[in-house]
Amino acid sequence: MSQPMSHPQAPWTPTSWRQRPAAQLPVYDDIPELAEVEERLSTSLPLVFAGEMRTLRQHLAEVAAGRAFLLQGGDCAESFADFNERAITDTFRVLLQMAVILTFAAACPVVKVGRMAGQFAKPRSSPTETRDGAILPSYRGDIVNDLDFTAEARRPDPRRQLRAYSQSAATLNLLRALAQGGFADLHRVQQWNLDFLRASPQGARYRDLASRISETLAFMRACGLDASADPQVRQVNFYTSHEALLLGYEQALTRRDPQTGEWYDGSAHFLWIGERTRQLDGAHVEFMRGIANPIGLKLGPTADSDTLLRLLDTLNPDDQPGRLTLITRMGADKIATTLPPLIRAVQREGRRVVWSCDPMHGNTLEASTGYKTRPFARILDEVRQFFAIHRAEGGIPGGVHFELTGQDVTECLGGAQAITEQGLADRYHTLCDPRLNASQSLELAFLIAETLKDYRRATGADVDTHEGDGEV
Ligand code: PEP
Ligand code: CO
Repeated sequence: MSQPMSHPQAPWTPTSWRQRPAAQLPVYDDIPELAEVEERLSTSLPLVFAGEMRTLRQHLAEVAAGRAFLLQGGDCAESFADFNERAITDTFRVLLQMAVILTFAAACPVVKVGRMAGQFAKPRSSPTETRDGAILPSYRGDIVNDLDFTAEARRPDPRRQLRAYSQSAATLNLLRALAQGGFADLHRVQQWNLDFLRASPQGARYRDLASRISETLAFMRACGLDASADPQVRQVNFYTSHEALLLGYEQALTRRDPQTGEWYDGSAHFLWIGERTRQLDGAHVEFMRGIANPIGLKLGPTADSDTLLRLLDTLNPDDQPGRLTLITRMGADKIATTLPPLIRAVQREGRRVVWSCDPMHGNTLEASTGYKTRPFARILDEVRQFFAIHRAEGGIPGGVHFELTGQDVTECLGGAQAITEQGLADRYHTLCDPRLNASQSLELAFLIAETLKDYRRATGADVDTHEGDGEV
């Protein structure tokens, strides 16, 4: 790919976004301090390396071609307070379990991407929040300000970016250790079950699947096919991602790859443009068009096909497969009317994209008890419709994008645990949006695995046409 990407208007540089209108950026009052922080970040180590991003792009190209499936998930917002080994390990473990369920049940390689190690900045529907007549800046994620409702806490503080950077580095270090140091070894598939899940129906169902996998490995060994030394069984490829919202931070971590001359944002492997910052002439699209990382674009119910095609031209002018993932988040009640025109437009232009379904952000509602929540049934409904619509339109349903946690929280309604509106109060811990808990995540993975399997059978995708190296 030629980099920086060509643009009809002006050449791209890591700072060219600064000439564009930027939505959702905090207003800092201490500009010299902000400049000092950005300067420090710009001489800090990148967290991820260009070669990894190129590998992920290749894996996503497999997804775009229907030969692999994308699983992306993690916190809505990571926090400074909830930063501990347990929380990270549990979320990683649930993602691994979901991946294994999808891989085994649907016989399809799964590309694993965490909303982890950098998912701190949040867009808000209003720049300010009013409580009892007092007006303060909205909370924009721990990388910007603090959740407490005081003037001091809500002041955007540039130094928080340094803390977010070091927390991301430490989180990534643990994730790499877990992915490659033996924890993710398929021979340990039985031990990934979380303690509090063991007694639940989802835990039991997982245990069954895990023993079938263990039997398969034993059977292969007995046949003389010893997979125990194979890195594909011993380790997993696990990638990080977050919304590229706080552009000063993202710019500061962007470096030119000496090998190819491409620019890579070293804050995460995969970055996405949020629903509120996808303006064609806006700063976020400008920044993202020039980095060579694989990127995502969220599309809500107001997205129209013309704008989408123009965004494709800007963000992926060379139509490189694996470069762009369209993450639709329409809502179960709107997807049937809003998704088909987008798929048709992309098909008509013959563009190669990954289609992924975020069934979280279009299905948020307020419970009668005042909690912001999401009904499990609506989440599942949107995913199922996503598959059905793609099948009808000849698109490829490539992946899913969830807000979830390995913790036993009560933030989304329903599921086999039947969390009720009253039950939400028990363990409602999120700083931002309601997340699926571990049990709901596994339940969803089993249900999606069936849908994926049906889809692959019906379309012939389950026949092994795999041309890549299979290392996803
Ligand atoms: C998010 O992914 O947390 C988010 C804010 O999503 P969206 O931009 O789709 O609203
Ligand atoms: Co969210």
